[in-house]
Amino acid sequence: MSAGKFWAKHTQNEDEIQTCFSIRESVFVKGQNVPPEEEWDHLDQAPQVCPHFIAYFEAANGIRTAIGAARLWLYKDDCSKAQRVAVLDTWRKKGVGRLLMATMETFSKQTGRNEVVLGAQTHAIPFYESIGYQAFGPVYLDAGIPHRDMFKKI
Ligand code: COA
Repeated sequence: MSAGKFWAKHTQNEDEIQTCFSIRESVFVKGQNVPPEEEWDHLDQAPQVCPHFIAYFEAANGIRTAIGAARLWLYKDDCSKAQRVAVLDTWRKKGVGRLLMATMETFSKQTGRNEVVLGAQTHAIPFYESIGYQAFGPVYLDAGIPHRDMFKKI
C-alpha cells in the first residue's frame, strides 16, 4: 500500500451518506447476504437521531477513497448504539474499524453520553473486546446471523 493516512468523520452531506450506504450494501447485503429489508430501516433517513460516519484512506497525492462506514443511534440521553460497522474487505485489519468506533465514541461523549452499546455479530466480538467492549446476555439471531450484546463505558 502506498503511503497515506486513514481518517474517519461524521458525515457532512448527502453524498457522504450515500457513500456510506454503498459501503454497507457491499459489506452486508452482498458480502453477508443480509436481506435488504433488514439492512435498511427508518433510522437511515433520520440523521439527527442516527448520524452516519465515514472512514477514508487518503493517499500521499491527496486522493481519498471511502473504505468504511457506520451509524450511531442516539437512542437515549446517556447512551448511544453503534450499528452497521463496516470496512470494505480489502481494507480490514488496518485499524479502520477501531478508528470508526473511536470517532463515534468521541461524538457520543460530546453529546453528553457515557456509554456505547451494540449488538455484535459473534465473529466480531474479539474486535470489539480489543477496543474495550464487554459482552453480556445470550446469543440471539438478527438477520439470520448470531449476535451478542456488548457495552463500553466511555
Ligand atoms: N477477530 C479478532 N480480532 C479482530 C478481528 C477479528 N475478526 N477483526 C479485527 N480484530 C482486531 C484487530 O486485530 C485489531 O487488534 P490489534 O489492535 O490488537 O491489532 C483490532 O481488532 C482492531 O481491528 P481493526 O483493524 O480496526 O478492525 P477492522 O478495520 O478490520 O474492522 C470489522 C473490523 C469487524 C468492522 C470488519 O472486519 C468488518 O467490516 N467486517 C464485516 C462487517 C461486520 O461483520 N461488521 C460487524 C458487525 S457487528
